[in-house]
Amino acid sequence: MNVTVIGAQWGDEGKGKIVDLYSARADFIVRYQGGNNAGHTLVVEGKKTVLHLIPSGILHPGKTCLIANGVVFDPEVFFKEVATLQAAGVLGSEPWKQIKVSERAHVILDIHRTLDRLREEKASQSKGKIGTTVRGIGPAYEDKAARRGVQVVDLLHPNLLKEKLERTLSEKNALFKNHFGSEEVAYEPVFEKCIMLGEKLRPYIANVRRMLVDAKKAHKPILFEGAQGTLLDVDHGTYPYVTSSNTTAGGVITGCGVGSTFLQSVIGITKAYTTRVGVGPFPSEIEETEKETAEKIRKIGAEFGATTGRMRRVGWLDLVALKYAAEINGFTGLALMKSDVLNGFENIRVCTGYELHGRVLDELPSCIEDMEQLIPVYKTMKCWKNFDTKAVRSRGDLPKELQDFMTVIEKFVDLPIVLLSTGPGREETLQLLDPFQNG
Ligand code: IMP
Repeated sequence: MNVTVIGAQWGDEGKGKIVDLYSARADFIVRYQGGNNAGHTLVVEGKKTVLHLIPSGILHPGKTCLIANGVVFDPEVFFKEVATLQAAGVLGSEPWKQIKVSERAHVILDIHRTLDRLREEKASQSKGKIGTTVRGIGPAYEDKAARRGVQVVDLLHPNLLKEKLERTLSEKNALFKNHFGSEEVAYEPVFEKCIMLGEKLRPYIANVRRMLVDAKKAHKPILFEGAQGTLLDVDHGTYPYVTSSNTTAGGVITGCGVGSTFLQSVIGITKAYTTRVGVGPFPSEIEETEKETAEKIRKIGAEFGATTGRMRRVGWLDLVALKYAAEINGFTGLALMKSDVLNGFENIRVCTGYELHGRVLDELPSCIEDMEQLIPVYKTMKCWKNFDTKAVRSRGDLPKELQDFMTVIEKFVDLPIVLLSTGPGREETLQLLDPFQNG
């Protein structure tokens, strides 16, 4: 059975922990979209590791980690992560035996990072600011769609690389100089750096699609590791306040070049509340309405971005958005994270509808202006208290209020909760259903 792990909210749901747990059961762990805008925090035996690009499964020995074609790939970030993992003793002297990068993945260049930064700086006074991670993700995907992107395989083909870089740079330089009043970029150093990075990358480069097809034929379990979250999907999220890739389950198919039969168990990861980094609509946000509660959740939940360190905006669990995510991704189950953060609160709330111009909606509207005006409709519930998050062996051991909360979620979304996380560590987890057995 293959398992896909997908963020059901705006990212930062705790996918890293789940991927790490499920990796023990898979032979291949695959990143299929996004880039190093992701920040997956893992805590193993009290030691914290943050990964941005290499699949979180790397912490398990003997697994093959794949970076597929749908990823935008920053070679410099990749080599830094490899070096960090080597220093930590996770990777040995031949890391390419464990990690492969698709020939077809698109490369993030310095010019993409520069463009991302210049745009965000220019927009900072106006409405156009997205609050990106400034890692060059959007500009790299733009070049891909515009058919002038540099693919990993091009780094090994100097003539092709030269032609592509010349085209890309001439357009970028016109933008840098005329639109942003910034410095132009010289061609030669960019070319030389790409050739150098290509040589270093050579042993990692592979036909990842073929590897996956062969793995399936050999009945080897595959874990697809989503990055960001459903509401940041470029097609289905809160556009334009989204990332530039398909973060939803369909991204597995195009991002790896495999058929729909590869999607078997699809697990949606959600926190017991909601967070969002960056700008954009967030109907159940409580930063203004319940300031102290927002601060308390942020503090206990350490809600600061793993990639940029930015403060995460906080709100209640949005069941309407969760149901929307379940439909788009075809979730087969949910993992409920960070229930421990709310432990001891008096009451909590869940959003069960949106009011817009006097009407109650049961799904997210498509227009950004409407999304910004939604008034959440809440159900208030008693919160759980004094539960020893480390001493939970079954659902029956949980406080009644937490069991009720889980039932409300399951009924609203019509899906089982397959896992409850009660803390950051591997051992603080109650596994209720095994996604490798139950599709
Ligand atoms: P970009 O992906 O850097 O272009 O940023 C676009 C939007 O996605 C911004 O609001 C970011 O804060 C958000 N974003 C990107 N990656 C993540 C993530 O891993 N977690 C949460 N938000 C993210």
